[in-house]
Amino acid sequence: MVSLAQRAPVRRAPRPSSVQLKYVMAVSGAVMFAYLVLHMIGNLKIFFGQESLDLYAEWLRVVGEPALPEQTVLWIVRIALLAAVLSHIAAATVLARRAARARPVKYAAGNKVAGSYATRTMRWGGVIIALFVIYHILDLTTGTLNPNGQYGEVYANVVADFAPQRWYVTLFYVLAVVAVTLHLRHGLWSALQSFGRTSERNRRAVRAVSSGIAIVLGVGFLAVPLSVTFGLVS
Ligand code: HEM
Repeated sequence: MVSLAQRAPVRRAPRPSSVQLKYVMAVSGAVMFAYLVLHMIGNLKIFFGQESLDLYAEWLRVVGEPALPEQTVLWIVRIALLAAVLSHIAAATVLARRAARARPVKYAAGNKVAGSYATRTMRWGGVIIALFVIYHILDLTTGTLNPNGQYGEVYANVVADFAPQRWYVTLFYVLAVVAVTLHLRHGLWSALQSFGRTSERNRRAVRAVSSGIAIVLGVGFLAVPLSVTFGLVS
């Protein structure tokens, strides 16, 4: 029998520091941000007509051919995006637990600091966005929840999705995009705070730039569902 004293010491994996976790959040956030910018620009092709949007969607599937088989690049992007989403959530969860442990006494009612408000908003915003993305993929990628739901008919799928009588779908998308905009605004701001050289003097500028970028992205995304619901695209 091996006595307790003879047992090899259990080696724990080194714990990542909070700064390392913030890097994980910033890098994964940057990957998702880049995707969102390209996705928003791609969506705007709907204003150039059905052929423009459907050809673009087709190009996304065949890009890299003939050197690479169809959809290779698309799947690389999907896997990178999934890795970014998972590491972003994992790092956020660990950081939130550490913050809670460092503050064993809860704030008294009415004594909540702005930081804790932003943190809760980010957490709930993140959950709403994650649920939206699941619905969105079932709606416009697989077509399962879409009234048209035809593979390759992206324009027709989008127009059927946000038809005036389906205003509640548009409303859901609007709420989700508002959540994305707020999440991004705070995410950009805190990444720039953590890694930039934010002096008191340029704090306001950093806040304004973060808000400006987030609002441009939000407006770009909202343009599509709202234009279909209000009959500008049909
Ligand atoms: C609000 C306006 C939006 C519209 C009209 C829209 C439209 C679309 C369409 C048509 C597709 C399918 C593309 C294809 O199959 O070729 C798609 C896929 C996708 N969208 Fe959006 N989208 C919007 C907002 C968003 C937002 C805010 C996010 C993220 C928070 C997002 C994330 C995604 C993801 C992850 C996919 C799956 C990509 C893939 O795996 O192929 N979208 N979107």
